[in-house]
Amino acid sequence: MKEIELIIPVTSKSYEELDATERRLVDAARKAVDGSYAPYSNFHVGAAILLENGEIATGANQENVAYPSGTCAERSACFWAGANYPGVPFEMIAVAAVGTDGKPTPTPTAPCGACRQALLEYETLSGHHVPVLLIGAETIYRLPSVQSLLPLAFTEF
Ligand code: THU
Repeated sequence: MKEIELIIPVTSKSYEELDATERRLVDAARKAVDGSYAPYSNFHVGAAILLENGEIATGANQENVAYPSGTCAERSACFWAGANYPGVPFEMIAVAAVGTDGKPTPTPTAPCGACRQALLEYETLSGHHVPVLLIGAETIYRLPSVQSLLPLAFTEF
């Protein structure tokens, strides 16, 4: 028997500690929250994806009275990017949220499992690691890749 330990590398930073590109993407993700339609959960999420062509694709969660028909911010952003800029690699992803109290979440918001899997597809297509910024009111977590968010992922068949 052999025990394998999986380590997820996370850097915790303040907004001031981010570089200019990271700040730009964090600002875009925070702004993207405004597009959230979340009358059922009152949890508003925004996502921003920097593309290799310099464009920033954004998305926000869109809920539906038939709950499973809604979609998360991350998938709305990455599917929009895939549909509008097919084949353009992703450079960086950021996620922000405003909680049910109407305030930016104090701790960073992390993508759900389905979004991790969807984002991983685009990281694979991009051909390189795509850093992820998970945004909280005071703290921002930076992960070096989507892969690091989804260890032991199903990648090919
Ligand atoms: N949600 C996202 O948009 N992204 C996440 O990473 C987690 C959850 C949405 C789905 C739903 O509209 C609301 O947040 C509450 O779960």
